[in-house]
Amino acid sequence: MNKPNRGGLEGIVAGQTRLCTVGIDGVGLNYLGYTIEDLTEQASFEEVAYLLFYGELPSGSQLAEFVVRLKRYRGIPAPLKTILEQLPARSHPMDVLRTGCSALGTLEPEGSFANQVHAAERLLACMPSILAYWHQYQTRGEQIDVELDMDSMAGHFLTLLHGKPPSETHRRAMDVSLILYAEHEFNASTFTARIVASTLSDFHSAMTAGIGALRGPLHGGANEAAMELIERFSDPDSAETSLLAMLGRKEKIMGFGHRVYKDCDPRSDIIQRWSKKLCDEAGNQRLYAVSERIEQVMRREKKMFPNVDFYSASAYHCLGIPTQMFTPLFVLSRISGWSAHIFEQRADNRLIRPAAEYIGPPTRNWLSMSQR
Ligand code: COA
Repeated sequence: MNKPNRGGLEGIVAGQTRLCTVGIDGVGLNYLGYTIEDLTEQASFEEVAYLLFYGELPSGSQLAEFVVRLKRYRGIPAPLKTILEQLPARSHPMDVLRTGCSALGTLEPEGSFANQVHAAERLLACMPSILAYWHQYQTRGEQIDVELDMDSMAGHFLTLLHGKPPSETHRRAMDVSLILYAEHEFNASTFTARIVASTLSDFHSAMTAGIGALRGPLHGGANEAAMELIERFSDPDSAETSLLAMLGRKEKIMGFGHRVYKDCDPRSDIIQRWSKKLCDEAGNQRLYAVSERIEQVMRREKKMFPNVDFYSASAYHCLGIPTQMFTPLFVLSRISGWSAHIFEQRADNRLIRPAAEYIGPPTRNWLSMSQR
């Protein structure tokens, strides 16, 4: 007997990619053959973005030129600043990024697919500026200068956010997190971006659609939802009591579980180590202890493991990042992966248009108004 179709394209191979392997045999994550462990030990986020855009690690001079280009592309055009200033202060920053991306597509349209790499580099460099500019304008009424002379996206963004350069530990923690979030095969937002690209639509439309898909709590929004959960609890015991009650009500615990990984999310161990380091450094033992207890309860009660979003929440909190910016940070990084997938889709394109199993009524006779 056929298994019932639970939808969600689970287990369906929907295309080919050379960019990433997720959980082959249930474990591991590689970008173009390099393990996530090596990348987060050895590489900078800029090297990883280069790898995804160009298919190979950069030489020293290629990396230096890439970094110079990204620095040059950080500025926000004046009409876009005006748009950002007019968005409500209560907007969710994901909506600000979605609007910023779309607006940039009108001010600086891709024009031709020959310009796609430029469009990707421009967006990668400019989106942290867009997020920070809107935030500082709405919270402090300040029109900040976003074109700072800083090499890394992590350092640039944290400086714009806090008004002073981060410590090297904080900069590297953010850098590692950006590497972890850069690419993940056919996840919902990447697949969305590829679907849009497959219609031969423009680069900014595909990216805007990707942002929309990432926003939901079952996908990128899980890091924010995890933080909202963790910060509710004053100590590990009360966290355990509440969690058991939530599980009893069959509520989902955000930051746990995964569609593809079966035993662990390889990104989680890496960000957990950074979360511990940052919580220790900040003297925030409660946050880490509560997080650890939630993990233990989920393993014991549900045999579920944390995904990348769970310990990202406490790590970002210790970096002084407002909770509503957690998912936007995911966007700033994933622009690299989405872009690479758009290039790949376009290089060998066929319209993505699956079929549906029909479960509606059989063909029937038309009813006139008086028969209904
Ligand atoms: N907390 C509690 N129960 C969970 C759960 C979670 N985080 N994730 C899955 N489950 C349970 C479901 O309730 C379901 O139980 P049931 O069979 O008794 O109804 C079962 O596990 C299967 O869940 P389902 O949602 O169908 O699995 P999926 O493959 O579609 O889901 C996720 C994958 C990631 C969407 C899912 O695990 C989830 O919603 N996690 C929380 C959101 C999250 O962290 N997203 C970020 C992913 S990187």
